[in-house]
Amino acid sequence: MSSELDALLRENRLFPPSEDLIKASNIQKWMERYGINDYDQLIMRAQDDPEWFWDELARELEWFQPYTDVLKWDPPHAEWFSGGKFNITYNALDRHVKTWRKNKVAYIWEGESGQVVKLTYHDLYVRVNQMANALRSLGVGKGDRVSIYLPMILELPVAMLACAKIGAVHSVVFSGFWAKAFQERANDAQVKVAITVDGFYRRGKVIPLKENVDEVLDGIPSLKHLIVVQHAGCPVQMKSGRDFWWDDITQEQEKECAAEVMDSEDPLFILYTSGTTGKPKGVVHIHGGYAVGTYTTLKFVFDIKDEDIWWCAADIGWITGHSYIVYAPLIMGATSVMYEGAPNYPQPDRLWKMIEDYGVNVFYTAPTTIRMFMKYGEKWPQKHDLTSLRLLGSVGEPINPEAWIWYHKHIGNRQCPIMDTWWQTETGMHLITPLPITSLKPGSTVKPFPTVKADVVDDAGESITEGGGHLVIKTPWPSMFRTLYHDQERYVEAYWSRFPGLYLSGDVARVDQDGYFWIQGREDDVLNVAGHRISTAEVESALVSHVKVAEAAVVGKPDQIKGEEIFSYVTLKEGYNPSPKLKHHLREHVRKEIGPVASPAYIGFVEDLPKTRSGKIMRRVIKAKVKGEDVGDITTLANPEAVEGLDHAL
Ligand code: WT7
Repeated sequence: MSSELDALLRENRLFPPSEDLIKASNIQKWMERYGINDYDQLIMRAQDDPEWFWDELARELEWFQPYTDVLKWDPPHAEWFSGGKFNITYNALDRHVKTWRKNKVAYIWEGESGQVVKLTYHDLYVRVNQMANALRSLGVGKGDRVSIYLPMILELPVAMLACAKIGAVHSVVFSGFWAKAFQERANDAQVKVAITVDGFYRRGKVIPLKENVDEVLDGIPSLKHLIVVQHAGCPVQMKSGRDFWWDDITQEQEKECAAEVMDSEDPLFILYTSGTTGKPKGVVHIHGGYAVGTYTTLKFVFDIKDEDIWWCAADIGWITGHSYIVYAPLIMGATSVMYEGAPNYPQPDRLWKMIEDYGVNVFYTAPTTIRMFMKYGEKWPQKHDLTSLRLLGSVGEPINPEAWIWYHKHIGNRQCPIMDTWWQTETGMHLITPLPITSLKPGSTVKPFPTVKADVVDDAGESITEGGGHLVIKTPWPSMFRTLYHDQERYVEAYWSRFPGLYLSGDVARVDQDGYFWIQGREDDVLNVAGHRISTAEVESALVSHVKVAEAAVVGKPDQIKGEEIFSYVTLKEGYNPSPKLKHHLREHVRKEIGPVASPAYIGFVEDLPKTRSGKIMRRVIKAKVKGEDVGDITTLANPEAVEGLDHAL
């Protein structure tokens, strides 16, 4: 662990929630129903009988046919609610349009340039049905994969829900990734149809997504059709027979569409995330358990009530948006804010202004965003009335206590508990998190969610009570991922084989004397840059794909605002020389291959990279150099002189 992080993790104050907040909370009311008096009793009862807990919550959703078992657990294979027939979109929309929620606002969408669109549950229901029918008309059916490459516009949730309604499997690709990343993911998933946009706004500029997509479409042989949303109005080329405008293909469709009756365990989506190799992992989530897990955590952690305005300020391209902008809030029948653009555009008070404008009650963002706003200063939130806020949330990386305190004081007016939720693309839902009834310690994600058993173990898999170790989960949870798309072997290997029967999170954590968890970061070669999970191997392979590059090594350097910055060292092929121009080209190249988030902050040219005798690059040594730390034992290096070379490159 870096000494910087260490220093920041010493904040021992305890922040208890107010009595009023506790009394009014969903979790407290739920506990009263079962005669449970306090948090400790809740945890005891839930850990003792997890099936009771999840059964009670699953019953709050609508099943076409009830499940026969709550859980079948044959590690590492879980089946939740098996035998149950279910459809997540039916639970998110159809169920509500039969009630008073029909005319309740589901989304308040704000474009970057300020236009506002409000969609009710009924509006959304009709749009989803028309899109679902349009997809069926293109031959998309149950089990077919659809790639969705869209920015934060309303068509994104509509497209996801439409796929789910007809049993198709969606795979959303973050719009900030470049088309090459989209192509790679679309090919891995063997998609039949893809959905994209003419262009979208980012900081006032139009990003021409369709034009970028055109460059890679021929490289996706499985793809039959492309649906294009008209949004920015920029000129695009449409290929007749292959490409269709969203409006053209949906407007004539029927406004009703029967939901496909799915098995609880049928796949809902694939979401690609970074692992330790260059090849992204296709994390697979399913209909039933995913719905129950995300619904329950939103209800109990963020305490959403019918009259609340909820804003999860993430991008739907990541799991946070899948779970807590799309599925869970709609299943709850909540009203969500959705924002298209950059958080500091046109001014650093955009988020605070929107909280005031819409009277947001619960707000969820990432530490990197909070640190960015800390830098701009409290004068920006002070311009706005933020008293509607009741609860705040944080996710994506460890939040340093300094940022926690700033968020608490300047955004939450010292009144709002901060739910620092630890979870992952793979877990689908919050796993280690406070509840509105628990006391908080700034920088700690508190304790495992009811029923979940988490632990910190040493290399031998033994529980440790002092210092950092491997964070593992010992019990299954409903919204756990079920596999990696057509790579069951990697699923078992990457997550379940190090400590058989335990889920290996890839994070280092420690547990304090009160049982509070403190997440310290990734232990594998995965970087966390501004809340984005990026594998060093992916950036390395992007660099090496440049004609002039022979080898590349990528490491993360802790950064005050971004969490980590990408540092890379490259060796060039014979006949090529280092130059500032080449550096610039390499950066551009990585942007094009992966996306701006993966572009290295630093590129150093070296003669040689430090390697073991078996030829493996010693990233540990490079990392120590980058952080200005002692490189430690380098006797196993085949070429110790390469370490000095790193100095000259810096
Ligand atoms: C990794 C998962 C889950 C949605 C966003 C990221 C880190 C996540 C926290 C937190 C400390 C956190 C972990 C984890 N992380 N939440 N509250 N405190 N670290 O999803 O891209 O799958 O990344 O993000 O390192 O392993 P993801």
